[in-house]
Amino acid sequence: MLTAPTIPADLQATLGFTVNGKLVTIATAPGRRLSRVLREDLGLIGTKVGCDAGDCGACTVLLDGDPVCSCLVPAAQAEGHAITTVEGLASRPPLYNSLQCSFLTHGAAQCGACTPGMLVTATALLEKTPQPSEAEVMDALGGVLCRCTGYRKIISAVLDTGKEQSTAASPAAGFAVGTRLVRLDGQRKVDGTEIYGADQTHEDALNVRVIRSPHHRAKFCFGDLDKFLRNHPGIQAVFTARDVPGNELLRRNSSLRRSACLRRRRGPLSGRSRCHAGRRGSRHRVGRPSSFPSDLASARPDHNRRRGTQPEG
Ligand code: FES
Ligand code: FES
Repeated sequence: MLTAPTIPADLQATLGFTVNGKLVTIATAPGRRLSRVLREDLGLIGTKVGCDAGDCGACTVLLDGDPVCSCLVPAAQAEGHAITTVEGLASRPPLYNSLQCSFLTHGAAQCGACTPGMLVTATALLEKTPQPSEAEVMDALGGVLCRCTGYRKIISAVLDTGKEQSTAASPAAGFAVGTRLVRLDGQRKVDGTEIYGADQTHEDALNVRVIRSPHHRAKFCFGDLDKFLRNHPGIQAVFTARDVPGNELLRRNSSLRRSACLRRRRGPLSGRSRCHAGRRGSRHRVGRPSSFPSDLASARPDHNRRRGTQPEG
């Protein structure tokens, strides 16, 4: 189960919208991503988050029937509108049943990370255009990325939706060779109930925040980390390069030097993480708390340094 972050009362607004046919009212920050509200506040983890940047389409939901990337929709924009997630597609038979069946028989859901976005987008297309051309399918699905299937199986699955297809676990006797089998774990992927690492958190898990450089190369130095920890009692630890066994070895090996992800107290940055801080209660996030003690904001980009030479301060 994911936990929603605690949002100060003065930053909250009460928002009402319909999700999968039910009216919901929540108090949250108006600018919070709809994808987070769906997953963390409403527990609808069928909506996946791949990039949080509008690139991958895994978070696609229907907003008044139109597919949108929920990671780009502020919660306030959903106020008064109807949202449909992959969990809500089950109430749209027979189209959705047929689409699921087609995804199963074509092997269009492999790891399944993109599948909710694909199913939501395909449903929107098929509701408006029951017999789309291949070009229309490709155009509609173009905003959802898949790293497994090569897209061909997904396109065929959408084109064959509505045709009679078998999801039998075993082929009929005498027809086994060359027959495509339905994946044993396929059903959970096409009904949005598959669980991935980002879909659950142990209640004692630490939230690791990776602090990245805003410059691709720059010099920086940390401030007083002990004082920072004292002033932020919820933060359990701050990890830097000194806490990584073997990091020194990595830096000395020229072929691995650029792989050392954590930097020392003083030294150059190369766009990688230089510090991890853990807070109890939620999950891995990327960003830099404004109170973090480093002079990174005023760091000077180091344009003159040659690639591959990274002396430590
Ligand atoms: S998570 Fe929204 S587009 Fe990738
Ligand atoms: S099935 Fe794995 S990303 Fe599409």
